[in-house]
Amino acid sequence: MIEQTLAIIKPDGVARNLIGEIIRRIESGGLTVKALKMAHLSKKEVQGFYAVHRERPFFDSLTTFMSEGPVVLMILSGEGAISLWRDLMGVTDPAKAAPGSIRREFGISIERNTTHGSDAPETAAFETAYFFNRLEACN
Ligand code: RTP
Ligand code: MG
Repeated sequence: MIEQTLAIIKPDGVARNLIGEIIRRIESGGLTVKALKMAHLSKKEVQGFYAVHRERPFFDSLTTFMSEGPVVLMILSGEGAISLWRDLMGVTDPAKAAPGSIRREFGISIERNTTHGSDAPETAAFETAYFFNRLEACN
């Protein structure tokens, strides 16, 4: 099934000039970029985005990190895009991520793990709509 998912290049990835390398992996991995922009999110905007994690012990640290510098926001499309993008990223902790995955190659820590991907169709719908309106996504 063709799906859409939200990808973010997190502040640690943008700060280390990894935008091109990550988009290269997205495109050569079989995904298509349908919308793209940069933003320096406020802590409030990040808190709204990660609202499902608000009770977690890492919530304050995560939202501080995600608002420390600019991010790249993208809608990706393709066959099984949600799980495909999560496979290309690798699991949350770079130390446990598969060899060759983005987080294994570039992640600094379980928090500063370079990229984000939606984890299910419902979260993908919420997350893409959180950052992009209908006119901003190419179809
Ligand atoms: P993401 O939502 O960013 O794609 O990552 P994920 O699904 O692999 O992980 P999730 O459990 O949704 O956690 C969201 C982000 O919070 C940070 N985190 N820190 N200190 C910690 O134990 C911890 N655990 C998670 C990471 O930046 C993670 O990607
Ligand atoms: Mg998640």
